[in-house]
Amino acid sequence: MNFKKLADKNENYIIERRRYYHQYPELSMQEIETTNSIISDLEKMGLEVKRFDGFYGCTADIIGELPGKVVALRADIDALPIKEETGLEFASTNGCMHACGHDCHIAMLLGAAKMLSENKDKLKGTVRLIFQPSEESGCQEGAQDVIRSGALDGVDAIYGSHIWGDFDAPYINVESGNRMASTAEFHVEVEGVSAHGSAPNLGVDSIVVASAIIMNLQTYVSRNNNPLNPLVVTVGKIEGGNRWNVIAGKTSFEGTVRTFSKELLEETPKAMKRIIENTAEVFGAKATMTFEWLVVPVINDNEKLNKIAQDAVKKMYGEECLRHLDTLMGGEDFSYYMQKVPGVFAFIGSRNPELNKIYTNHHEKYDVDESVLKKGAATYAQFAYDFLAQES
Ligand code: NI
Repeated sequence: MNFKKLADKNENYIIERRRYYHQYPELSMQEIETTNSIISDLEKMGLEVKRFDGFYGCTADIIGELPGKVVALRADIDALPIKEETGLEFASTNGCMHACGHDCHIAMLLGAAKMLSENKDKLKGTVRLIFQPSEESGCQEGAQDVIRSGALDGVDAIYGSHIWGDFDAPYINVESGNRMASTAEFHVEVEGVSAHGSAPNLGVDSIVVASAIIMNLQTYVSRNNNPLNPLVVTVGKIEGGNRWNVIAGKTSFEGTVRTFSKELLEETPKAMKRIIENTAEVFGAKATMTFEWLVVPVINDNEKLNKIAQDAVKKMYGEECLRHLDTLMGGEDFSYYMQKVPGVFAFIGSRNPELNKIYTNHHEKYDVDESVLKKGAATYAQFAYDFLAQES
């Protein structure tokens, strides 16, 4: 079976659904109406939908008429607290925005669901659709909640994709190796002694100490880490002091760490702690850090699934549709599914300068070349169909 023509036939449906979901974005853990609409869309296809218990999102099984394995397809459904500035006719007006393109993920998976459910007679096994909430929150929710709910029980493989603003339409990327990084969040409190601004000798200036710590942290990446091992340490926020003429007694800062390396998962927080506490001590101050890994890395390390996904794209759109995309240091909780069952993660290019689709994901003007949506939908369907056919 080849889903290219079917996807062409369903293109209007996919674009119409994308615009609908785009207009009504909801934040992580608040995807109430989004979930209701997805359920109604799936029920129109004759599918039986299961809500999750205690959080939004849903799953539905497309049960083929022929026996076989179970393959899962995942779309995340939440939006961001960004005020949309696209000027689109179907722009959101509620202060939130599908700036990461999860509206496209919903629409593409609905398109695939439609195509697959119309071809149950040829399907050798079951396709489980997972509409996952709360990907953006980067916490113990989202994929981890879905997994705890048992949605992956009995699943033999999983496929997911992300629409990507820094990758040209109409290309698709499926390649082996590191795709997205482990992500950590850290917070540091620096405690000094406040004093009159004119008498620094009577205080311990936490702003100066925090500055020294931040500068020293930069040397962890440049002087301690193997340069062949990608590592990012970013301080994204700093806050301290009360007034222009007071030595600041307290300063805090926070940031993120990104890596692919298993060793660095343990090593980095230890090294950062050492640098932070000892730098503070040099100045007679005290610093404490809290550190948490939020997501594990997305690594396409299952060559069989990589090949099924690549062949699916080639079969429909030719070898030229597959393009290289550099490894990204961003995070994605799809990685948790991949720890549980074999998986593969693809990127769908949405950038098209001719249509002025030049902004990246999370930008208030992010928009996509909609002509790629049918390809993303077709790849979901083709991957699922081919995996089941090959495994039967
Ligand atoms: Ni996203």
